Amino acid sequence: MLLDIINLKAHFPTQDGMVKAVDCVDLSLGERERLGLIGETGCGKTVLGMSIIRLLQPTTMIEGQILFKGKDLLKLSEEEMRRNRGKEIAMILQNPTTSLNPVLKIGDQVAEAIQLHQGLNKKEAKEKAVEMLESVRIPEASKRANQYPHELSGGMKERAMIAMGLACNPTLILADEPTKGLDTETKAQIVELLKKMTERKSMLIITHDLGVAGQICDRIAVMYAGELLEEASSEAILNRPAHPYTQGFINSLPVKGLLPIRGSSPSLIDPPQGCKFHPRCDSAVEICRTKHPEMVNLGNGHSVRCHLCH
Ligand SMILES: Nc1ncnc2c1ncn2[C@@H]1O[C@H](COP(=O)(O)OP(=O)(O)O)[C@@H](O)[C@H]1O
Ligand SMILES: [Mg+2]
Repeated sequence: MLLDIINLKAHFPTQDGMVKAVDCVDLSLGERERLGLIGETGCGKTVLGMSIIRLLQPTTMIEGQILFKGKDLLKLSEEEMRRNRGKEIAMILQNPTTSLNPVLKIGDQVAEAIQLHQGLNKKEAKEKAVEMLESVRIPEASKRANQYPHELSGGMKERAMIAMGLACNPTLILADEPTKGLDTETKAQIVELLKKMTERKSMLIITHDLGVAGQICDRIAVMYAGELLEEASSEAILNRPAHPYTQGFINSLPVKGLLPIRGSSPSLIDPPQGCKFHPRCDSAVEICRTKHPEMVNLGNGHSVRCHLCH
């Protein structure tokens, strides 16, 4: 396995108590595998991604192991981690509008990412940056390279973010909500682009959009209130979801009639006892209210955390 996350916790101490944003997550990603991490807003997806690339604030309490090529990233010094970032592991951050530097030209931002790791001089890095912008199909890339983020459309900004993420040919790509806020047509283009550019690469794509994950990923993991509830091939998640939450998530898709799951996401400070989903689950029985279910393998790499599914 390229990435092995073992019993990961990322907790934030706050005035109201400990926010358990990631709680005991186990997740693996193979070479050349594209894995989708899906779940409702606020379930801990971004925090999980930020833990892997170690960009969480220093007060975060992190426990567990994140083995990358067999080495625990959580044990690396900040300096060692900095050398990995961009080159070994790159993150395409959520929200290009706030993640791009508003006072730096697009081309210079991509060039900066390249120069840091590839030992090229400024001019060479700038040329490579224009090549990267071309590869993500930004039209008139050499002209666009001299523009500032606000001069680009949402779709173009997302393309620039992808160019920056892929600039140093990283071993592992983390892409956080790469299609959020885009119109349907632009979204379809970005999905196509990401799919093409990450062929035979390893990517963890974080999205609340199951359709996007289904189109790009080999496997999908479903996250709820800081933990994983189900994991399987994309085909199995979409066609044979086992967990009531995953089933509800699929029924809430526009193509399935936009039927929302009743209730709202639980508190991460004081989550429900037993199964964290039980207050919203129409199938819940007594054991669901009292005993926290384990992740159980149903066979064929399909795992589910539900008392009723086995
Ligand atoms: N620095 C922080 N301090 C306290 N709580 C945080 C912090 N960062 C994130 N959270 C909380 O952690 C939870 C998970 O957030 P996030 O990973 O961003 O969700 P997602 O990406 O799935 O929408 C949210 O409830 C959020 O409010
Ligand atoms: Mg997020």
